[in-house]
Amino acid sequence: MTIKIRKTRISDAKAIHKLINNKNVIKELSGYPFPCPLSKIKKDISKGLDDWKKKKAYTFTILADKKIVGQVFLENPSKDNGRYEVGYFIGKQFWNKGIATKSVKEVVKFGFKELGLYKIWGDNDSDNRASGKVMKNTGFKLEGRLKKHCKKEGKFIDVLIWGKLK
Ligand SMILES: CC(C)(COP(=O)(O)OP(=O)(O)OC[C@H]1O[C@@H](n2cnc3c(N)ncnc32)[C@H](O)[C@@H]1OP(=O)(O)O)[C@@H](O)C(=O)NCCC(=O)NCCS
Repeated sequence: MTIKIRKTRISDAKAIHKLINNKNVIKELSGYPFPCPLSKIKKDISKGLDDWKKKKAYTFTILADKKIVGQVFLENPSKDNGRYEVGYFIGKQFWNKGIATKSVKEVVKFGFKELGLYKIWGDNDSDNRASGKVMKNTGFKLEGRLKKHCKKEGKFIDVLIWGKLK
């Protein structure tokens, strides 16, 4: 399978909406209602394009054999734009094929080589073990554990912090 990432386009909205509008995916992402209206995705994509120009975030669409399967982001920059947070999701039907791992590797390359970043970091809820595995597999080091940091479906969850230095 060939995995590619490219800047997200407005025309990706319908495909991205189909992937994201799934309970298993959306429960791991902050800021999305379920069900999620298509209009929210369209709004996010146009904000993403604006953010790209302003260096506030870089939003990529993930293609597996040319089919849209998810998104990967660099967002929440530090003041000096030298550190960004990584984020990602893959449509449920495409899980466990190594797609997130390959895509995060690509976005890390972009961050260090094209943007000249000194650090990329990310976090995952401790019950989202697949996401932690993606960061571990792409060379992120576990930097910390925030105890009972968020409440998910009525249960307190620890959050793990991962970092990768240039
Ligand atoms: C997390 C997510 C992006 C992973 O995508 P993916 O393409 O399936 O990831 P990969 O196939 O590259 O790797 C998944 C790894 O997790 C492991 N894994 C999968 N489910 C697991 C589970 N329940 N427990 C432990 N490990 C698990 C896989 O074995 C694999 O590790 P390996 O390569 O060492 O065997 C995907 O599950 C997703 O989109 N989830 C919802 C959104 C989300 O959680 N985003 C991240 C928020 S922090």
